[in-house]
Amino acid sequence: SRFAVLASGSGSNLQALLDAYPENVAVVGGDKRDAFAFERARRAGVPVVHLDPKDFPSRESFDRELAERIASYDVSLVVGAGYMRILSPVFLGRFPAVLNVHPSLLPAFRGLDAVGQALRAGVEETGVSVHFMVEEVDAGPVVAQEAVPVLKGDTKETLLKRLHPVEHRLLVGAVADYFRGGLDPEKFHSGKDFA
Ligand code: GRF
Repeated sequence: SRFAVLASGSGSNLQALLDAYPENVAVVGGDKRDAFAFERARRAGVPVVHLDPKDFPSRESFDRELAERIASYDVSLVVGAGYMRILSPVFLGRFPAVLNVHPSLLPAFRGLDAVGQALRAGVEETGVSVHFMVEEVDAGPVVAQEAVPVLKGDTKETLLKRLHPVEHRLLVGAVADYFRGGLDPEKFHSGKDFA
């Protein structure tokens, strides 16, 4: 039950996965050379794959190379943990399943800056979703979701601080469910999603 993690930022979700499954994180991939997530991987003795989008003429060529490199680590699951690039079918089609954590109650607030969107919308409740990645952004079947209150005077920082522990818990649980066979991706998408 080896899996890969993709990250672009600080990697607090990656850290939760490294803490929970130190033997199972086979590789950490990403597009930002100086992402602290990579430092976390190095400290855990986990190999890192960094590719710079600027070195590739297209999204597809970047995704193809990333998929090749990640697949060479013999993983049966990829987890997006704050990975900030859209993964094309070229990448998604290479793996049995790709999970992602998103800081909103999907389908609400899809896309970038979900936390800022929720604050600007003035909702009293937002939350965290773990879903399968499909070609359409933040549209895959949701496998775990939990609401988090938005309090008066919340800023992005205070709201993110409240969301992060929920993200970590849901993501760690979803990976366990997946490997226990509880999240059969075939139940969620037909082959057409990964042309
Ligand atoms: C998290 O809020 C995650 O939901 C979103 O990006 C952020 C990544 O945080 N996709 P970290 O890099 O895991 O700390």
